Amino acid sequence: MCGIYGYIGEHSAAQIIVKGLRSLEYRGYDSAGIAVIDNVGNINISKFGEHKSSIDKLTKSIKDDKFNGNIGIGHTRWATHGEISKNNSHPHSDSDNTVAIVHNGIIENYLEIKQKLECLGIRFSSQTDSEIIANYLSYEIKKGENLLKAVSKLKKVIRGNSSILAISISNPEEIIGIRLGNAGGIVVGLDDNATYISSDLSALLPRTNKILYLENQEIIKISNRNYKLYNSDLEEIDRSPQKIEVDKYDVDKGEYPHYMIKEINEQPNSIQSSIAGRINFSSNTVILPEIDNKEINISEFNRIIFTGMGTSLHAAMYGAYIFENILGIASSAENSSELRYRNPVIDDKTLLIAITQSGETADTLSAIEHFKNKSCKVISIVESFGTEASRISDSTIRIKAGQEIGVAATKTLTSTMVTLIQLALFFNLDLNKSVGNTISSLIKDISILPSSISEVLNCETEIKKLGNSMSGYSNILYLGRGINISTALEGALKMKEIAYLHAEGYPAGEMKHGVNALLGSKMPTILIIPDDELFEKNLGTINEVKARGSKTLVITDSNSKDLRTLSDDLIVVPKINNLLSPILFIIALQIIAYHTAISLNLDPDKPRNLAKTVTVE
Ligand code: G6P
Repeated sequence: MCGIYGYIGEHSAAQIIVKGLRSLEYRGYDSAGIAVIDNVGNINISKFGEHKSSIDKLTKSIKDDKFNGNIGIGHTRWATHGEISKNNSHPHSDSDNTVAIVHNGIIENYLEIKQKLECLGIRFSSQTDSEIIANYLSYEIKKGENLLKAVSKLKKVIRGNSSILAISISNPEEIIGIRLGNAGGIVVGLDDNATYISSDLSALLPRTNKILYLENQEIIKISNRNYKLYNSDLEEIDRSPQKIEVDKYDVDKGEYPHYMIKEINEQPNSIQSSIAGRINFSSNTVILPEIDNKEINISEFNRIIFTGMGTSLHAAMYGAYIFENILGIASSAENSSELRYRNPVIDDKTLLIAITQSGETADTLSAIEHFKNKSCKVISIVESFGTEASRISDSTIRIKAGQEIGVAATKTLTSTMVTLIQLALFFNLDLNKSVGNTISSLIKDISILPSSISEVLNCETEIKKLGNSMSGYSNILYLGRGINISTALEGALKMKEIAYLHAEGYPAGEMKHGVNALLGSKMPTILIIPDDELFEKNLGTINEVKARGSKTLVITDSNSKDLRTLSDDLIVVPKINNLLSPILFIIALQIIAYHTAISLNLDPDKPRNLAKTVTVE
């Protein structure tokens, strides 16, 4: 979703900003642009509203001398208000080109403000809500305010969640940034010769690890090598930058044609990194120093709610299943956008576990805030400390998958799943439950998970054929039971996201209550059938599906002859503990979706209409 990047320093701003925008590409975007104040004090803007080529065109356009200044701002847009077009792309300037802004988020009352400005004779050239910002700031500056004061006045006028950067020819040596609520946040990076500002920590880390985060309602004025931070009343705040320790960000595609397949193949390593240092395999204990037992004492809770969006919602469903199973505490999962609005009955005995690999998903952040306001404890599960979810939660656990570029989540899901298992085992010890055979065999199987994943990946060539065969259909059904309902939902989501096929995930037991009517030769069924206590029931399901003429593809860890006979196609993954096997099934489903997309000639890294980080509701 939209990304922002600003630079002020000794070098030419344009190249640095465009590089910064490239590193924001993975969030998803359809347009890109920059604004630079040149050496004679004019604002020059270049922007493109063309889905796949905007940043390439931008790179060529900034070779012009007028982009030689040392201060500028840039933006990758993911259209919300108005079509994808050059005019609607950011940066937006006022009608006299004296102010330029980039904006993430939504201004809820923009029409009202636009009408007021139009009555003053101000003309607009885009359909966006963002354009009112530039015109409002310019209006205030013409009345005698400086850029900083104008931005603080704007804050009192606009409603909704927004992150904004602004430059003006009236204050040509500064960038003003403001953060209002959760619209992707603002992070400042400082080094000896320059200051950077972005929506995304990962876009700054290649430049510096001296980082300052803006809190809600804060305003920052940055100049070369310096900054001043203010609260909403423009009183100065004294806060020093922090040094962020990060894992090496490996964002090169290497030998792979797409990030998605690279990240699928990284899963033995990413899972290894999620486990490393956290499990003592000789004493069967889990060490999670991130959880302060005094702050979060599991025995005080009688209910756990898991929340997330998209793939993270599926991780939440998996989490609820394993927590109830291992800890015996009532657990459920709910989509964050519903959870925040339906006023759930919760109290200080309710623990919220919020799952968001980016740590920036707007709905999940709002759900966290809602629970915090009701005195609930919140644990967030994220990729990076420092992200907003981590900052507003009581505790945070990193999944340690490494940065994921592919829009459709793959390695971050499996790392989240293994992190959740470890958290459940950690709490299990806290409850002073004995480490029974089941738990010790689960811990043992966690140690072999990376090699089991490698075995699944070794079958890519066979799984690929099945992916190719799916591309001939328009509808696909995914069925699972128990812990694998979320596996079925995730398999279907991957197929929708990157292959644009209609795919539905369903609990197998629900079949007779509607879905059976759709079965037939035009709709293949992918069944997740583990070797568990529901195996016989699943055999019944596959019989029913076959009897109705639907092609059956079974993903299993069983060697049952019956399954071989009943299925048209079969993928057998290594046998592992039933609480872990969904991870292996999901990896097979990721490979199927990837190869379906490839055989349909689609780019799985840039699925249409989707963004990696969804910073608006
Ligand atoms: C978007 C992405 C999904 C992701 C979801 C939640 O929809 O395309 O891949 O699962 O957001 O993201 P989060 O960062 O909160 O895990």
